[in-house]
Amino acid sequence: MGGKSVKKEKALAVEKAKISDAPQIHKLANHFAQKGVMLPRALSEIYENIRDFFVIRDKGKMVACVALHVYWSDLAEVRGLAVAEELQNQRLGAKLIKACLDEARELGIPQVFCLTYRASFFERQGFKRVDKSELPRKIWSECYRCPKFPDCDEVAMIYRVE
Ligand SMILES: CC(C)(COP(=O)(O)OP(=O)(O)OC[C@H]1O[C@@H](n2cnc3c(N)ncnc32)[C@H](O)[C@@H]1OP(=O)(O)O)[C@@H](O)C(=O)NCCC(=O)NCCS
Repeated sequence: MGGKSVKKEKALAVEKAKISDAPQIHKLANHFAQKGVMLPRALSEIYENIRDFFVIRDKGKMVACVALHVYWSDLAEVRGLAVAEELQNQRLGAKLIKACLDEARELGIPQVFCLTYRASFFERQGFKRVDKSELPRKIWSECYRCPKFPDCDEVAMIYRVE
């Protein structure tokens, strides 16, 4: 098995984010943004899109998060996926992705994409690599905020929701 060996599965539930989670989401996402593996997210943007977010809490403290951001009738994006280091490889990332895909199915959205440096993790969740040119222009609207712009080295991946 190529992926990192998964320690025991942590029995923590996925929940919809509450407004009180926003500072923790901001802290966790920007912790990994400083490591260059995620885009920095402004606290205002997190408050404005708080309904996009799912979180996992451990003893009341938010330890993992993800957002499903709807772009159009046929497309949504998984963004801001982050699991606190001490809880990685315990299937929390896989649970958060499943919550996003279930919500896309409930909403009737046929495709979910992501831009990532963790292609093999997303492959394990059923995503397929796709050429960036196949994604609609509007998804690039926030690229100017990326320190790497215009040299995007993230991998574009897509999940076709049955
Ligand atoms: C990437 C990340 C979200 C994965 O979450 P996680 O909870 O550690 O992963 P899980 O325990 O759910 O792993 C699920 C599967 O993916 C595999 N996997 C986990 N991390 C992986 C990685 N970096 N590369 C390849 N496979 C990986 C696991 O082995 C497991 O495989 P299995 O289904 O065969 O058992 C987490 O490591 C993280 O937050 N990293 C820092 C921020 C980041 O890179 N976010 C992604 C932005 S797009």
